[in-house]
Amino acid sequence: MGIQCHLLLGLLVLAYAASSTSSQASPRSYGLNVIDRKAQPLSPTYGINSLNRSTFPPGFVFGAASSAYQVEGGAFDDGKGPSIWDTFTHKYPEKISDRSTGDVALDSYHRYKEDVNIIKGMGLDAYRFSISWSRVLPRGKLSGGVNEAGIKYYNNLINDLKANGIDSYVTLFHWDLPQALEDEYGGFLSPKVVADFRDFSELCFKRFGDRVKHWITLNEPWSFSDGGYATGAFAPGRCSSWVGNCSQGNSGTEPYLATHYQLLAHAAAVKLYKQKYQASQKGVIGITLRFTMDAALLLTQVLMVAPHYGALILCLDGWFRLGPCLSERDFG
Ligand SMILES: *[C@@H]1O[C@H](CO)[C@@H](O)[C@H](O)[C@H]1NC(C)=O
Ligand SMILES: *[C@@H]1O[C@H](CO)[C@@H](O)[C@H](O)[C@H]1NC(C)=O
Repeated sequence: MGIQCHLLLGLLVLAYAASSTSSQASPRSYGLNVIDRKAQPLSPTYGINSLNRSTFPPGFVFGAASSAYQVEGGAFDDGKGPSIWDTFTHKYPEKISDRSTGDVALDSYHRYKEDVNIIKGMGLDAYRFSISWSRVLPRGKLSGGVNEAGIKYYNNLINDLKANGIDSYVTLFHWDLPQALEDEYGGFLSPKVVADFRDFSELCFKRFGDRVKHWITLNEPWSFSDGGYATGAFAPGRCSSWVGNCSQGNSGTEPYLATHYQLLAHAAAVKLYKQKYQASQKGVIGITLRFTMDAALLLTQVLMVAPHYGALILCLDGWFRLGPCLSERDFG
């Protein structure tokens, strides 16, 4: 896709974030299409003419969503450290359909005010965006120093949204792990990531929590584990040779480790927010999970094409669908 077209693509692709830059063959299609900005609006064949706000229950929130790597650009500006997505797009250009990178992306790092105006013009209530971990903590951890220029960027964005009556919904981890943590201990393959994620989350609660009332710990952890460690189609691009073309990885074990440590990281951040910040900041915190419907026919096809892979995606999906994320008592 042309990664430079401004904003609207980011709005429409919503939570799929960086997945849209990947073209590597995968047993599933993510159903992403490049948006033709000159195209005429859809003809109203689905009765959408009669849809308006009153069709939805009171309190329904209309919003747009993006992820940092997908929209910000400014990938190496003002002290930001590299993330695993910076490394991935530069190191494996053949895994990106048009060999583009997020170096500039939609340039929202520089053009956020225009974006806020567009969001306001669309009459939306909320904007969901993610905080680039390595923009605020270039080395990934508190001991590596806080990048105040990065903090300032998010303060500006949050304040501009607020001034325009738009609520911020903030994702803490949308797949762009600081490269420093990947280098130091293998990122989400190590239990060490749990404390670093908790510290990063706390920094965000402290600096932004007076204005941000909706927190999302992780975006689609299943997709991160699957793309990053099973197929190798997403950063950090690890997989076994029976699944994809990666220099390192183990598709039989690593997706489970990455999932396990994501769940623990989520739990640590939620616990911290609830115990230390929620009473005074009065916000809510949750997670974004990906759900699909597995129809029998589709499942049969997946199993026929790639039996190992089919079993893998089913098992991992089960961790989120049936597992602790949905249990208020243990993790929520
Ligand atoms: C919204 O839709 C309802 C139901 O179709 C309709 O009665 C109402 O007039 C519409 N309101 C506006 C502002 O278009
Ligand atoms: C496999 O990956 C290597 C290293 O990134 C790349 O040079 C090569 O073109 C890839 N092969 C295929 C078939 O995609």
